[in-house]
Amino acid sequence: MKRPILIHPDPRLKKVCDPVSDISDDLRKLADDMLATMYDAPGIGLAAPQIGVLDRLIVLDCAKEETEKPRPLVMFNPEVLAASEETNVYEEGCLSIPDQYAEVTRPKVVDVQWIDQNGNLQTETFDGLWATCVQHEIDHLNGKLFIDYLKPLKRQMITRKMQKLKRERARA
Ligand code: NI
Repeated sequence: MKRPILIHPDPRLKKVCDPVSDISDDLRKLADDMLATMYDAPGIGLAAPQIGVLDRLIVLDCAKEETEKPRPLVMFNPEVLAASEETNVYEEGCLSIPDQYAEVTRPKVVDVQWIDQNGNLQTETFDGLWATCVQHEIDHLNGKLFIDYLKPLKRQMITRKMQKLKRERARA
């Protein structure tokens, strides 16, 4: 089931989310809803706070449509264990900040640990777009958005555009 996505600014997007203690059917259902919401948007990643749930849960799939099979990943309590010195720049966007994109510099390679939907601990090394996406989504769990990496003026400009968008949507 698709869920509505919160648009910045929203206090729920600024919160540090709570760790998940055991993987219940409810949490698995939540992860399925998040994947459906992400694919529908369409997007390559979504964090639980973006649908107003303050749990440490993210989903992502950065497989390129034409060349790779879909690879939906569900991560409970994801953590970056190690990050490369080498960095990468990607033009990032966010489903909570529609139609706004900006270059963000992040470590190029990260080792990530998480609990999967079956309750198993997983670790994997991510590179390139996958690495950027998983870091962007984990940031959401700490109340951080990609625009927080930008200069204040640019961030304020985007925030004002989003406030206007929300006003327009509320009126519609
Ligand atoms: Ni985002």
